Amino acid sequence: MKPAILVIYYSQTGQLKNLLDSILAPIQAQADIDIVAIEPTRKFPFPWTNNAFFDCMPECVLQIPEEINKMHIPEKKYDLVILGYQPWFLSPSIPITSFLESNYAHILKKSNVITVIGSRNMWLNAQEKIKEKLKSFDAHLIGNIVFRDKNPNLTSILTVIRWSFKGKKEAGKFLPEAGISQLDIQDASKFGPIILSNLTETQHLHNHLLHNGSVFLNPALIILEKRGIANFRKFASYIREKGERGNPNRLSRVKLFNRLLLVGVFLLSPISTITAKLSVLFNKKTIEKEVSYFKSIGYKQNAI
Ligand SMILES: Cc1cc2nc3c(=O)[nH]c(=O)nc-3n(C[C@H](O)[C@H](O)[C@H](O)COP(=O)(O)O)c2cc1C
Repeated sequence: MKPAILVIYYSQTGQLKNLLDSILAPIQAQADIDIVAIEPTRKFPFPWTNNAFFDCMPECVLQIPEEINKMHIPEKKYDLVILGYQPWFLSPSIPITSFLESNYAHILKKSNVITVIGSRNMWLNAQEKIKEKLKSFDAHLIGNIVFRDKNPNLTSILTVIRWSFKGKKEAGKFLPEAGISQLDIQDASKFGPIILSNLTETQHLHNHLLHNGSVFLNPALIILEKRGIANFRKFASYIREKGERGNPNRLSRVKLFNRLLLVGVFLLSPISTITAKLSVLFNKKTIEKEVSYFKSIGYKQNAI
């Protein structure tokens, strides 16, 4: 009998869907695959407006779910669930949190799960939150595949801004293509056969994926992400005091967050990158342990 695989995902621009299609293409004939998209009832605009974009931060960081449309998940026993998601503001995106908090997420109960992340390059806190959620369902995380923008951090911030607010993903005169490269999307197909051939030996699957480059981690980004999420958490509660997403009463606080974030990213980022790199140099042993933890599928509380 063919193994049954359920794929659950959200993708706003289609990037993550393309990655999943590429992974699954070589194993279509050998597996029984059902793909179900998460659709937020209240759609997120694309391209984004400034206010709509930054107004999402508190609900992402505090993991506050919103309504999603009915999901048609076939009632079957699945050998594997692939959960495709993206980080928003260093946290699971609102549609993913909304799925995980919905009744549909019971399909994850005691299931074998592989997470597939389509990120810019900062996904650590988001994955910790997903691991926590999977634990609450007694699900077994058996693999993680992370796709990222391989350009330098600041370049990828500039291109993601152009992509998010102007809808332009392709390379321009001065900037490369935004997001995950077409080459990496095509190359994702190498993971399909690895997943299929290791489904029965789930303990080894993640190691096989790692040997094939499923997770790359820049140690300095661990430090930058820890600093970032600590600030986001404070700002998230401060904005939520004024109401829910979309409430005009909180707009002045959202705009303040927007400005401070841009100052942090463009003015302070060179300094914080240098201090993060120095910290990596002086705390080699600790950082090595952290890299190995975040590349793994293990879970310990408050890792970030
Ligand atoms: C509101 C918003 C916040 C984002 N925050 C992050 C982030 O914290 N870390 C990161 O690596 N990528 C971030 N991204 C990029 C997304 O993770 C993702 O790669 C991109 O939106 C494309 O995904 P899609 O398949 O849903 O179109 C963000 C994107 C959006 C729209």
